[in-house]
Amino acid sequence: MKRTKIKDLLNTTDFGQEINVQGWVRTFRNNQFIAINDGSSINNLQAVVDFTNTDEAILKRITTGAAISVTGDLVESLGKGQRVELKVTKLEILGDSDPEKYPLQPKKHSLEFLREIAHLRFRTTTFNAIFKVRHALAFAVHQFFHEKGFVYMHTPIITGSDAEGAGEMFRVSTIDFDNIPRNEDGTVNYKEDFFGKSTNLTVSGQLEGELAAMAFGEIYTFGPTFRAENSNTTRHLAEFWMIEPEMAFFDIHDNMDLAEELLKYVIRYALDHCGEELEFLKGRLLEEEKQKPQAERSDMDLLSKLQFCLENSFERITYTEAIQILKSSKPNQKKQFKYLIDEWGADLQSEHERYLVEKHFKKPVILTDYPADIKSFYMRQNEPDELGRNTVAAMDILFPGIGEIVGGSQREERLEKLEKRMHDMHIPVEEMSWFLDTRRFGSAPHAGFGLGFERLVLFVTGMTNIRDVIAFPRTPNNAEF
Ligand code: 4AD
Ligand code: MG
Repeated sequence: MKRTKIKDLLNTTDFGQEINVQGWVRTFRNNQFIAINDGSSINNLQAVVDFTNTDEAILKRITTGAAISVTGDLVESLGKGQRVELKVTKLEILGDSDPEKYPLQPKKHSLEFLREIAHLRFRTTTFNAIFKVRHALAFAVHQFFHEKGFVYMHTPIITGSDAEGAGEMFRVSTIDFDNIPRNEDGTVNYKEDFFGKSTNLTVSGQLEGELAAMAFGEIYTFGPTFRAENSNTTRHLAEFWMIEPEMAFFDIHDNMDLAEELLKYVIRYALDHCGEELEFLKGRLLEEEKQKPQAERSDMDLLSKLQFCLENSFERITYTEAIQILKSSKPNQKKQFKYLIDEWGADLQSEHERYLVEKHFKKPVILTDYPADIKSFYMRQNEPDELGRNTVAAMDILFPGIGEIVGGSQREERLEKLEKRMHDMHIPVEEMSWFLDTRRFGSAPHAGFGLGFERLVLFVTGMTNIRDVIAFPRTPNNAEF
């Protein structure tokens, strides 16, 4: 008999049909009611066992976590909480789950506990909902770019360059560290390594993306990126997924327009396609908020927050304007910020970003034209401002509850200016000759950005720790699963 998925049953009115369902037991009550989940829906199907006619030994094996196959008639449920239920005529245990050992119980577990059993947490309703939303968002990203005619590029994971120039790379090597090959002067002889040179996991696909954009016009990447930054926060991962579009003949304004359109498109997609999951996550978040003091609670629920984001245009201001706002802000005046803003040129911390978004503008903000000194080498250099300060055509998008969700810029397309800046910033110009070829041969204005996929999933699901929106989080001292 063909297996039916639970998601196709819950709203049916086609009663009386005989069907087969296979899934995992969530709960078993009164020796009679099994809540089965097969992963297709965040909702369970209730299967009713005729215990008087079922072998005692079988009943004992219907435990939380066990995999079972049930066949029976689909009937309208008279009980509360579900429209349909299955009257079981045949039950088979596919895989036992020892209730003494199975870590998931039919009660609510804390997210911290679930992180310790990341290999089993998919079996909870919360993680089912999160990963359905994550899937929908990934699909929407591809659909958005596909509709616009962008080419999906697969840029390399192993590279010889540091795209951000920040030195936060994981090295890739086959060198046996107990037996390191040395040159005569004692330095490591990378010539004996697999690639004959030092390589690392990519921190961004941007540089290769730029090469492709200068041929195909509009491209995007969507892949894993790696950062060996030692930030143990709820917003950082050592391995995260990034979406990086790169467009020839775009300036920074076109770049901002595209980023805002993309964000709104994928959020709208999630609202349209993940109604049940988002409704569940909204309830979860409300519960979590109740634990907080009144003053810290959000005044919007998850769905209103997403809707609000769609209906309002993002505020666009320059870094210089942001510094003025922050300087005279209450938390700065009252010395409540951990890092006080006293002069132009400082990098913004997440407390400042969140102040701008959550307290001042109360909506997403795009910050542009950052000081050149705190941004990457490839960003386009603006004319010095009236005080002679150097800025670059950078743009960061800041989101409520998240801080920076997008980082991007118009790129420096002028060879001389780029080469000079690379020299000044100690970027190996010779080694990156391939990158500079785009500026040597048919250079053109172009721009792009990177959207941190997990930060997007955090925002849409209302989760608060980035470790809960990626299947197997990689963070300092944690690569267990
Ligand atoms: O601002 P970032 O470092 O920019 C780049 O990598 C550029 N090459 C992008 C481009 O222009 N093509 O990173 C972009 C985004 C951030 O805004 C953030 O959302 C996310 O990537 N991100 C991280 N997400 C999780 N964990 C980390 N450690 C992250 N670092 C950056
Ligand atoms: Mg950034």
